[in-house]
Amino acid sequence: MIAKKKVCIIGLGYVGLPLACLCARKGYDVTGLDINKKIVEQIRAGISPIKDAFLQKEVRSLKNKLKVTIEASEAIPSADVIIICVPTPVDNKFHPNLKYVEAAGQSIAKYLRHGQLIVLESTVNPGTTEDTLKPIMEQSGLKTGTDFHLAHCPERIDLGNKKWTLRNIPRVIGSTTTKGALLAKMFYASIIDAEILMLKGPKEAEATKIMENSFRDINIAFINEMAKSFDKAGIDITEVIKGASTKPFAFLPHYPGCGVGGHCIPVDPYYLIEGAKKFHFEHKFLELARKINESMPEYTISLLAEELNNLGKSIKGSNIGVYGIAYKKDVDDARESPSLEIIRLLEEKGANLSIYDPYAKSKNNVASFGDFLKKSNYIVLATNHTEFTTLKLRKLKENGIKIIIDGRNCLDKEKMQSLGIIYKGIGR
Ligand SMILES: NC(=O)c1ccc[n+]([C@@H]2O[C@H](COP(=O)([O-])OP(=O)(O)OC[C@H]3O[C@@H](n4cnc5c(N)ncnc54)[C@H](O)[C@@H]3O)[C@@H](O)[C@H]2O)c1
Repeated sequence: MIAKKKVCIIGLGYVGLPLACLCARKGYDVTGLDINKKIVEQIRAGISPIKDAFLQKEVRSLKNKLKVTIEASEAIPSADVIIICVPTPVDNKFHPNLKYVEAAGQSIAKYLRHGQLIVLESTVNPGTTEDTLKPIMEQSGLKTGTDFHLAHCPERIDLGNKKWTLRNIPRVIGSTTTKGALLAKMFYASIIDAEILMLKGPKEAEATKIMENSFRDINIAFINEMAKSFDKAGIDITEVIKGASTKPFAFLPHYPGCGVGGHCIPVDPYYLIEGAKKFHFEHKFLELARKINESMPEYTISLLAEELNNLGKSIKGSNIGVYGIAYKKDVDDARESPSLEIIRLLEEKGANLSIYDPYAKSKNNVASFGDFLKKSNYIVLATNHTEFTTLKLRKLKENGIKIIIDGRNCLDKEKMQSLGIIYKGIGR
């Protein structure tokens, strides 16, 4: 632990809550600050607002250790290290929305004092720490780098990933001053057991995170395009990926699917696309990747429409089940989930919809998985939750399921066909 002992985490969501727990575990005196009263009350009662087994256990066992509040005055003045973990969404025109970062900055500026270290963890476009956050902080009359320190340390947490966790994922840091970077490095070194790399400045750290997520978005778009092309040619993409993966260098497998979700991959590229416009640079590659990935829910529906058509049926009036609202396996996070677009399109086309997710329940209109199977004749599998992938496939047959559109290519195609169920995957 570094000499500075009091930590304030602003924003207790998917990023801030695990971080607050980790800091508390490492012996820091932690106060979590959130504007959402319900979240604060739940954590105070020892309940994790995020349905993740590890976090639920952590929040329960840290009940009397982790302080949480909605009052900035109770969290910021006494903190030595303040970490900002607030959302950075895009608006309906895909423009970055920095209002949460700005509001967090204003809460800090009001109570800012000498010696505090402020770290922005939220994903932002290059320049935000220096051009947006720093001026807000300096409204306090204090100067960055002399009176207080400012750094950016992008978060790379991957909820549900058992191998790579907050404790062992390497970090990069960029600060406006060497002292700021060193202080931030010392702090992170006291809570994680992984490499911490100091970069030239905040811009480089901000760009690192955006480039990582854009890399992923582009690669997924590439494989989605391959899937669409190979499907027309009667080539099974899953076989091709298996084949290409035997090459020990210069190929990195990515997998096609019914769309990309979450608060990061579908959002972060827009931060760069819009940010670069300021410098009259057009990110054609990133824009195309977004377009391809955003087309996948519609493509998935077109696969269902085609199979229904072959049976002389249409989406309108058919009993269609959409399984999975969360954007990935066994988590409750439905932000930017392609399922939401799949549901919207199916509703628009007049389907008789059953919707079910065991974790992200906000759209569920059936009581249970059993109920879901009973009410559906045709299923779009949008999330590969273990509940579905471990289901005895004959249950599908017993429930009268006639078509499965496997949006995650996670089911046994041959077995499904041997049961007489029409199976269609993405490029498979
Ligand atoms: N979710 C991920 O897996 C992930 C991974 C890496 C990076 N990130 C980035 O981390 C940031 C946070 O993401 P998240 O998923 O934790 O978001 P989240 O929505 O789960 O949590 C953010 C929390 O901040 C609170 N908040 C908003 N404004 C506030 C303010 N002014 N003061 C105090 N609290 C405030 C919200 O009420 C919410 O509880 C984003 O920039 C995101 O891109 C997310």
